[in-house]
Amino acid sequence: MKIAILNGSPKGQTSVTMQYVKYLEENFSDHQFKYFNVSNQIVKLEDSKEEFDTLMQSILECDLVFWAFPLYVYLVHSEYKRFIELIFESDYVKDFKGKYSASLSTSVNFFDHTAHNYIQAISEDLEMNFISSFSAKMYDLLAEENREKLNYFFKEIVNTASNNRRTSKRFSRIDKKVLEYNPTLPTDQPKIANRTENILIICDYYDSDTNLGRMVDRFKSFFTQSPELIDLSKEDIKGGCLGCLKCAYDNSCAYDNQDAIRGIYEGKIQQADIIVFAVTIKDRYLSALFKRFIDRRFFKTHQPHLVGKQVAYLISGVISQNNNIDEIIRTSTEFDQANLVDIIADEYNDMAVIDELLYSAAKRLVELSRENFIAPMTCRGVSAYKIFRDEIWGDLRFPFRADHIYYKKNKLYDFPQKNWKQRFINLFANFFYKVPFIRREIQKNMRKHMIRGFERL
Ligand SMILES: Cc1cc2nc3c(=O)[nH]c(=O)nc-3n(C[C@H](O)[C@H](O)[C@H](O)COP(=O)(O)O)c2cc1C
Repeated sequence: MKIAILNGSPKGQTSVTMQYVKYLEENFSDHQFKYFNVSNQIVKLEDSKEEFDTLMQSILECDLVFWAFPLYVYLVHSEYKRFIELIFESDYVKDFKGKYSASLSTSVNFFDHTAHNYIQAISEDLEMNFISSFSAKMYDLLAEENREKLNYFFKEIVNTASNNRRTSKRFSRIDKKVLEYNPTLPTDQPKIANRTENILIICDYYDSDTNLGRMVDRFKSFFTQSPELIDLSKEDIKGGCLGCLKCAYDNSCAYDNQDAIRGIYEGKIQQADIIVFAVTIKDRYLSALFKRFIDRRFFKTHQPHLVGKQVAYLISGVISQNNNIDEIIRTSTEFDQANLVDIIADEYNDMAVIDELLYSAAKRLVELSRENFIAPMTCRGVSAYKIFRDEIWGDLRFPFRADHIYYKKNKLYDFPQKNWKQRFINLFANFFYKVPFIRREIQKNMRKHMIRGFERL
């Protein structure tokens, strides 16, 4: 069987993920592995149709498409995302139909499921038979039991594909049509005074003739002082995150003084009270350009960077059928310790609804900003902090020195082991809990015990 390895690492073959694939290649020598380093060749693939055509023809000669990628900020790397966009912009979409596919990622298991959701949804949109995914933690391959699992996974993939077995679909097609948005309601609402609130809009592609452009313009018109707009497509952004981890030591970046990214994050975003991201959905996620902007935020490594800010998203595209995007937006906002006020898409058939939502969001953003309101975290944010707390304390402390300093300073190392009072209570209470008549008494009154702490309110 010919297997197309679509390498998603910006580091080409010097990649952790590729060590897994090379290991498989040695173990499955009856099959032919063909490597395509699509992420680190994206400039060439974008610029030359000939290069892209040659690559696509070689991929399509293969029987199995194997998405092999590192996790990058809840998803795949921006350049891998761009490669997927190029497929959908080309005439090759139909040629993927009926092919088998599977995915393998390496990561620290932080929102690896959203990346795999994305890749499976893409495979299904290409009408491929997606078999299954394998999410490895970076150094899993070094342990014998994990190597066995990986071998079994791959054997099963190859068996399923060679026996032409049917695979089930997880994601429904995005079939909702987006109409042209034109504001309909009169602009006679009172203007919102934003003398003290600094509002910043970050748009991937601003064009006053598109739905997104019209939403941005309408939103801006509500305020007494027009919010600043940054159009990423006009900014000097030299490239995607290189994965070099220069940032890990002191949050410096290999691109420093070479492009606009640090200036936008530190000069503009840090100064703003309210951030509105205006973004286009392309395939199953936001545009690759926006993803590049988000990946490049990693110079702040595992530290929140919108602390205390109000956030809203204006989206062009169907988010109601794209729950994975919604999930990523909500998680990243919680992780950034910001407050998500609304996500407004242009997918309503009644334009007045969009107008009203935009005005309502504008009002709420300012009011919530004045109250400094940040909603409590859900499992998304809480689990993020627990994962990173443990990783930065342990395996990732080297090389992520800057994070260690930040986590210590901001008291993010809140391990339960440090709570001596609670540990003493647990020891004492659990000792007596073993005594049958005490246990019966406690269990009889458990409901009362559970609310005892509230009595002093
Ligand atoms: C910019 C950046 C973003 C990352 N984002 C995530 C993430 O969201 N979740 C995760 O579990 N790991 C994340 N990682 C860790 C990588 O996925 C992991 O190190 C991977 O093994 C790198 O593979 P590669 O060497 O093949 O590129 C990130 C790493 C970098 C540099």
